[in-house]
Amino acid sequence: MKKKTIILGIESSCDETAVALIEENDNGVPSILSNIVSSQVDIHKEFGGVVPELAARSHIEKIDLIAKKAIRESGKNLEDIDAVAATAGPGLIVCLSVGLNFGKAVASFLNKPFIAVNHLEGHALSPKLVTKLEYPYLLLLISGGHSQYLSVQDLGKYKRLGTTIDDAVGEAFDKTAKLIGIEFPGGPLLEKFAEKGNPEKFQLPKPIINKGGCNLSFAGLKTAVLKISKKIKTNQDKYDLAASFQKTIEKILYRKSEVAFTEFKKISGKKRNTFVVAGGVAANKNIRKILTNLSLKENFEPIFPPLDLCGDNAAMIAMVGLEKFKIKKFDNFDHPAKPRWPLDSTAVFLKGAGIKL
Ligand code: KG4
Ligand code: ZN
Repeated sequence: MKKKTIILGIESSCDETAVALIEENDNGVPSILSNIVSSQVDIHKEFGGVVPELAARSHIEKIDLIAKKAIRESGKNLEDIDAVAATAGPGLIVCLSVGLNFGKAVASFLNKPFIAVNHLEGHALSPKLVTKLEYPYLLLLISGGHSQYLSVQDLGKYKRLGTTIDDAVGEAFDKTAKLIGIEFPGGPLLEKFAEKGNPEKFQLPKPIINKGGCNLSFAGLKTAVLKISKKIKTNQDKYDLAASFQKTIEKILYRKSEVAFTEFKKISGKKRNTFVVAGGVAANKNIRKILTNLSLKENFEPIFPPLDLCGDNAAMIAMVGLEKFKIKKFDNFDHPAKPRWPLDSTAVFLKGAGIKL
């Protein structure tokens, strides 16, 4: 029997040290053999955000142990690995360097191909770990550092349809959470607060909702939350502000996704299309619900990664590695860490109201 391809994935772009092993399968959906994610939340909590130096130090301390654990849990041996895939960007350079250099060292030691992976492509392909996915598809990538609508044409081929002109959605969640008094990282807890609040209590702005195509903007929303947060007193006020904020985000994403659907339909030329929502914020239940409803209405098949694959993980990095392995797209050991690495390198920088300059 032919040996199945096994990829070792490594992720250290921000505050998660992660290593995973995946194995190619005959049905086109690979098996996750192990997927270890070690979060640094406790280290950064007291600072209210990720401190790059501390994050890098923790990656250095843990990467070896996490890798050993991932290999042990997979039931495989080092020699079974066919290629090593590591995140090379975008992210914090001091953090990226740890996983990237570790990956290069392992690949060199095993004398196996090395594959440098774009972290955003990892999120983009993450649903492939659980379901078959055909190109092209529309992707909404919503994480702590990115908020973009992209047409995913093929492996490595992306066309950006829209992007945030200021903050990312996850960043807006985290900043709002901080103003309400929720500790870092705020997104998941803000969702819990919102469950107990009245979403109609505070009227918040929806910046550039009717202009700039499917570009996004959240800075004005954050300023409005700041003003209200100075006046609120009770816990119920906090719940209401959380609920009102989340509801506003839902309305923005609903409207902008409608615009993105129209643009994507022109590209695909198909009546029935696929809409993938990925990244940390895709774990939000209400956002999943409203985007599912919109997709069904507009004849798009909605696909969300399972909750444990929405946030940063190394299985998604291994997934990109597997796709690149199949077409023998390998990288040299001098591949740099790239703090900035857009999926669509031709997309222009946006300013002001989200209009191309
Ligand atoms: O993809 P991710 O793990 O890391 C980046 O690549 O940025 O995304 C992290 C972001 C954080 O801003 C976090 O607050 C947000 O995703 N997030 C959520 C939820 N879970 C994570 N935001 C809203 N609701 C959630 N349930
Ligand atoms: Zn991420």
